[in-house]
Amino acid sequence: MGEMRSTRWFGGKDISGFIHRASMHAEGISKLALDGRPIVGICNSWSELVNCNLHFRGLTESVKRGVLLAGGLPLEFPAMSLGENLMKPTSMLFRNLMAMDVEESIRCYPFDSVVLLGGCDKTVPAQIMAAVSADLPAIMVTGGPSQPAWFRGRQLGAGTDLWHYLAELRAGRMTQEEFDELEAAATPSFGHCNEMGTASTMTSIVEALGMALPGTASIPAVEAGRGRAAEETGIRAVALAHEGLRPSQIVTEKSLDNAVTLLMALGGGTNAVIHLLAIAGRAGVPLTLDRFHEISRRTPVIANVRPSGEHLVEHLYHAGGIRAVLKELLPLLHGDALTVTGRTLAEEVEGVEVLDRNVIFPLDKPLATEGGITTLRGSLAPGGAIIKRSTASAELMRHRGPALVFEDVYDVAERIDDPDLPVTPDTVMVLRNTGPKGGPGMPEWGQLPIPKKLLEQGVTDMVRISDARMSGTAFGTVVLHVSPESYANGPLRAVRDGDPIVLDVEAGRLDLDIPAEEITRRIEELGPPKPRYSRGYGRMYVDHVLQADEGCDFDFLRAVPGEEPQTLPYGLLTGSIGGW
Ligand code: FES
Repeated sequence: MGEMRSTRWFGGKDISGFIHRASMHAEGISKLALDGRPIVGICNSWSELVNCNLHFRGLTESVKRGVLLAGGLPLEFPAMSLGENLMKPTSMLFRNLMAMDVEESIRCYPFDSVVLLGGCDKTVPAQIMAAVSADLPAIMVTGGPSQPAWFRGRQLGAGTDLWHYLAELRAGRMTQEEFDELEAAATPSFGHCNEMGTASTMTSIVEALGMALPGTASIPAVEAGRGRAAEETGIRAVALAHEGLRPSQIVTEKSLDNAVTLLMALGGGTNAVIHLLAIAGRAGVPLTLDRFHEISRRTPVIANVRPSGEHLVEHLYHAGGIRAVLKELLPLLHGDALTVTGRTLAEEVEGVEVLDRNVIFPLDKPLATEGGITTLRGSLAPGGAIIKRSTASAELMRHRGPALVFEDVYDVAERIDDPDLPVTPDTVMVLRNTGPKGGPGMPEWGQLPIPKKLLEQGVTDMVRISDARMSGTAFGTVVLHVSPESYANGPLRAVRDGDPIVLDVEAGRLDLDIPAEEITRRIEELGPPKPRYSRGYGRMYVDHVLQADEGCDFDFLRAVPGEEPQTLPYGLLTGSIGGW
């Protein structure tokens, strides 16, 4: 056991030590509490604007209890909270800002280890990215899925069923009164979305990465077991402070492979591809879309959870949770990857059983033989694009059709229900200016609605292509994350109505079937896109955000090859903390 990092703040006999201790005494914290025991930071992303994380005040108390039980001193601090529904234009625009907030808070304060509380979509990857960059001992406890809603005798997923009923309303098969009834029933508790959308995918991935206690990801938000998991996390955080086990030892090429494998086996949300690429960039691991493709090819979908399957995350929990999925997947995983417990993944899943084979399928009798997400490349997406095959229509996996181009989401809103829209079931709908720079922030607009005139004919799916993302709860034959995006002069910018587009998921191809010189000529003719912002965060974002195939992190936040993470406050390399 070496000297605690916090001793640099509180152990000094000089005026700085005096001031640091005195500022804690001002909070009623005694000298005894500061006397060499680990200081555990608790990063709370609670906010009244984020219903998914509304229970984090209570959860934080459980973490604190665990820290105190283990002999540490818990100190809670706030993080910018990112609410999926209320934040505009999209919470993704602010993921990197939250990651910067958390990283710098971890680095500049006297913590020996940190507990991260995340739940709603972006609050989880933002904090993991931050922890990897700050590289102090860290552990995450997630908020858990919300209670399922009941509507007309059926349990609803938070998003998947909404998309279904929205289409019913637009097709005239549901009345506005019925839709209002749905609204009142839709969100019966706090907690994150309860199907395998982005939030559940990311919380599960954190467990597979080894950054959360095994068995904790899918405990429902309202269950007492989640409080006990938080308490246990607090206890472990104190041990981490003593042991000095760092994210750089846990988030490695192996654990990232494990995370990608789990993503595929869950039929998880497409946003996870971007977040994993960003986390890998922070860890200095050269993860690429091609690696996702390789892992997808060898990984079957075994979790029967919406939107790829039929159940909700609560059922997955009762079937054994993510630990049971990982146990089933073990032959495809790096079992020797280290976890935050100090034990390996294989050790952590030893003895775990699958309790319901209708929810977690055997590896040799899966729900689908290949992973849920496939990577595409071609003349329309030289940098890559993705499609969630597990929720797409089999008959559209190979498709050639004429493009119908929407310039932006406002163009969609204006024309999609126009009875004269020149669209047939074979049309390939294209949406542009919705990427990382063009959106900005790559909003979840990729799941273009089926035009009303086709809905009325009973059409439920068609090929849609964009540089946007889509909700992890959404479904359909939707090609996303086209890279480079149209705003960055990707070929998507050159598409015109009627151009033939060819999708071949099996071959991993997405092509604009016109000569390459014509694509270049059209883009040159259009000239450079207009600047979006002259100042502020918007300007920094557009100037520095990377494309989707690199995780949409800022270029200056990725790990610098050969450089150790800076774990002490900037400008301080040795000695006690001075500067008063
Ligand atoms: Fe917060 Fe879905 S809206 S997790």
